[in-house]
Amino acid sequence: MRDITVALAKGRLAELSIDMFERIGFDVAAMREKSRKLIFRDEKYGFRFILVKASDVPTYVEYGAADIGIVGRDTLLEDGKDLYEMIDLQFGKCKMCVAGPHEMKDQLDKINHLRVASKYPNVARSYFQNSKGRSIEIIKLNGSVELAPLVGLSEVIVDIVESGQTLKENSLEVLEEICDLSARFVVNRVSIKMEKERIMSVVDQFRELVGERK
Ligand code: PRP
Repeated sequence: MRDITVALAKGRLAELSIDMFERIGFDVAAMREKSRKLIFRDEKYGFRFILVKASDVPTYVEYGAADIGIVGRDTLLEDGKDLYEMIDLQFGKCKMCVAGPHEMKDQLDKINHLRVASKYPNVARSYFQNSKGRSIEIIKLNGSVELAPLVGLSEVIVDIVESGQTLKENSLEVLEEICDLSARFVVNRVSIKMEKERIMSVVDQFRELVGERK
């Protein structure tokens, strides 16, 4: 029997994913220990768990190096790969938003040359294109995006907002909501055919845990 490989997005989502696997009987306790190890195995079910950077989860799953991935919808939207999304896991809930200083609320649709800073350039571009029919200048950043409007790098940002604390502490606010986000269970399209039974057994138990009807 070959191992089924699960790619988890390192950090909070991985911790919550580990909780779910534990609740359905997997032995993943070793993943909770502080270590630099990136790969773990559950002997009983023959599952391997790999810890990868969130933005790399879709790549592992698309190429079949992982059969299953657990990652935020933000990453999937930005990445745009053709993966089979099977469950909304209902954790890691937050929103993709356009945010900026209060005075931008009235200005957003008036400014001719709008600069938008974001870790999510594809999401930002398609939001402004599809919902407003306008092109914008995208400034790609890799973190601390809230800084951009404060130092004149951009007028607004497109970013995820969870508690709203980061915006608040930097005198910014949500100007427009783009979409709801949460963790998703995705599967490689070949794996779901080749390993249907073992993957669906986990899917069915997870669906039950999140209260989704079969
Ligand atoms: C994320 C996001 C916001 C913040 C939102 O950043 O990009 O900055 O969290 O959370 P809040 O609404 O609860 O304050 P992250 O912590 O991943 O760090 P980064 O800016 O370095 O990417």
